[in-house]
Amino acid sequence: MKALVWHGKHHVSVDNVPDPTIEQPEDVVLKITTTAICGSDLHLYDGLIQTMESGDIMGHEFMGEVVAAGKSVSNLKVGDRVVVPFNIACGHCWFCKKNLFSACDESNPNGEISEKLYGQPAAGMFGYSHMFGGFAGGQAQYVRVPYANTGPIQVPAHLPDEMVLFLSDIFPTGYMAAENAQVKPGDTVAIWGAGPVGLFAAKSAMLMGAEKVIIIENIPERINLAQQIGCEVINFEADNDENLFDQLKEKTNGRGPDSCIDAVGMEAHGTSPGEIYDWIKMGLRLSTDRPNVLRQAIQACRKGGTVSVPGVYAGFLDKFPFGAAFGKGLTFKMGQTHTQRYMRPLLDHIEKGDIDPSFLITHSLPLDSAPEAYETFKHKQDGCIKVVMKPFEEKTAGKVKDFMTAESNA
Ligand SMILES: NC(=O)c1ccc[n+]([C@@H]2O[C@H](COP(=O)([O-])OP(=O)(O)OC[C@H]3O[C@@H](n4cnc5c(N)ncnc54)[C@H](O)[C@@H]3O)[C@@H](O)[C@H]2O)c1
Ligand SMILES: [Zn+2]
Ligand SMILES: [Zn+2]
Repeated sequence: MKALVWHGKHHVSVDNVPDPTIEQPEDVVLKITTTAICGSDLHLYDGLIQTMESGDIMGHEFMGEVVAAGKSVSNLKVGDRVVVPFNIACGHCWFCKKNLFSACDESNPNGEISEKLYGQPAAGMFGYSHMFGGFAGGQAQYVRVPYANTGPIQVPAHLPDEMVLFLSDIFPTGYMAAENAQVKPGDTVAIWGAGPVGLFAAKSAMLMGAEKVIIIENIPERINLAQQIGCEVINFEADNDENLFDQLKEKTNGRGPDSCIDAVGMEAHGTSPGEIYDWIKMGLRLSTDRPNVLRQAIQACRKGGTVSVPGVYAGFLDKFPFGAAFGKGLTFKMGQTHTQRYMRPLLDHIEKGDIDPSFLITHSLPLDSAPEAYETFKHKQDGCIKVVMKPFEEKTAGKVKDFMTAESNA
């Protein structure tokens, strides 16, 4: 089969690799109909996540049709059309029973690597390094899905792939970010980053009754889309944090936002002196993350407010303003999404017409175009907000078609 394979920093290619097979009784093999590139894939592409090996298949947002099922699979059968959550969870360990699926204790055969780093083993994930289990990802024609009784959900035939695919990650991630932000009716929520995660967090905060959602971003197409879905926007100046804080105060009666959501994570951009210092330290491999957005979120948040962090951080953060967090009595909530918890309730929202998640798709391409698509998405070129890929379509030159442009579908 064809799959997108990681060979090193900024080096990926579509290769012919062996087809997956059923290895455990609870496995299914899926023929993938649609897959996507996530902001989290960029951390792998940029070589920032340890324990990737040349030859690893990438991708953790995918859906398709069951083509083989192990003998203990009771929830699914060959022919079913399913969306698969990005994290792998066993369904029966102490954590899974508490609905803490991204903390599953059983699904990662290499748990000892993350245990050394984090104190406890991390759960498995598709296509996300050996530290997270070394599972082949779904930017491929086929994928093996372990623990199939717990993860995948069937989706109704009348909903196209583009409306349900994002149940695999970014819609639940945006939703959990808003839930973690403890949004209450009437609240003002500030969100850094109008990427897919930030935009779904914004939509979710609105579903939860937020009165005002302020997005902080500097890419014009993303700003446009944020405005189209009803957000106020601050176009941040890369070199001026004070200006940002002043604008946030102006929009919140001088208090600061009730909640601040960091939907950017470890690869934040900026050119203030503190941010340049982060770039240099990261370049010298003296630090793992550039946490300037998290610092800003803490600084901007109102006293007694909540900071929610869906953006991924990997290691040790420098110049973390813990004094400000303590002094203002902030609450912090964060982490990998417990995707399995949110898939069915969010599918209900889609079915009821509360939200059509396809609004942020800008590029629909064959899988063969994945290497170019990574470059386009990384550099946010060509108006790129979200790329979906079709593993069984043949490549034609360049951008094949706009599935839906942001403008036509807001
Ligand atoms: N918690 C989870 O389970 C989970 C799941 C999916 C994605 N993520 C993470 O969420 C983050 C966002 O993902 P995405 O797919 O939306 O990525 P993306 O790269 O498309 O979007 C990030 C956005 O942040 C903006 N940005 C960069 N620096 C900024 C700054 N200083 N201030 C304000 N905005 C800034 C960029 O312009 C971009 O629009 C990533 O870190 C990703 O790894 C986490
Ligand atoms: Zn993702
Ligand atoms: Zn478990």
